[in-house]
Amino acid sequence: MARRQYHGAAARRYDRRWATFTTRMQAPIIDLLAPDLRPGLRVLDVGCGTGTLLTALATRQPDLVLTGTDASPDMLAQAQAKLGDRANMLILDLNNPLPDAVRQDLHVDLVLCVSVLHYLRDPLAAVQALAGLLAPDGSMLLADFTRHGWWWPGFEAVLHLADAQHQRTLTADALPALLRAAGLRPTAPHTVGAGGPWRGTIAKGI
Ligand SMILES: C[S@@+](CC[C@H](N)C(=O)[O-])C[C@H]1O[C@@H](n2cnc3c(N)ncnc32)[C@H](O)[C@@H]1O
Repeated sequence: MARRQYHGAAARRYDRRWATFTTRMQAPIIDLLAPDLRPGLRVLDVGCGTGTLLTALATRQPDLVLTGTDASPDMLAQAQAKLGDRANMLILDLNNPLPDAVRQDLHVDLVLCVSVLHYLRDPLAAVQALAGLLAPDGSMLLADFTRHGWWWPGFEAVLHLADAQHQRTLTADALPALLRAAGLRPTAPHTVGAGGPWRGTIAKGI
């Protein structure tokens, strides 16, 4: 039976359970972003989960303006506990159109979307909507585990069984393609080993 991955006790245990995966995915992202973390930079992390990435960025540059969103209130509660008043938190389901208030009032310099794309029914619609929140010289970073290996179709079936929210694992090429389709210029993607079967792809669009 599929479990609710991001609610109740699962949300409280998330950091411990996924520590290796999270560290390996996020370390190169933090290195990639670090040179551009200036005071006042407005950062939006969608599907921010327990807020580990926002917390790491705030440690590097305390004067960022941080917003974290997630579909799970329990994951956001974990993030809020870490970040306190250093970040605004907002419930947002990326499988729905962005609310008018968000489209009109949230303007940011950097959008982050890490390990979330595989949950989206229409990743392109979401990425295009998020690109609409960017300031003219803004950028977006997409990262997720991506398909690899002859055995992935079988593993994909296991992912569907284990997690009812799972939609589809994208290919590595799909991430820069999404950024391009949203009007951004993608830089060369990075590939990371994220432990066990997981291989991550990180792509930034400017
Ligand atoms: C694998 S966790 C990654 C969390 C965080 N980005 C990180 O890197 O640690 C996936 C997150 O995406 C959220 N999520 C799943 N489906 C979503 C959706 N449709 N809209 C917004 N967030 C979603 C989950 O609640 C969860 O917090």
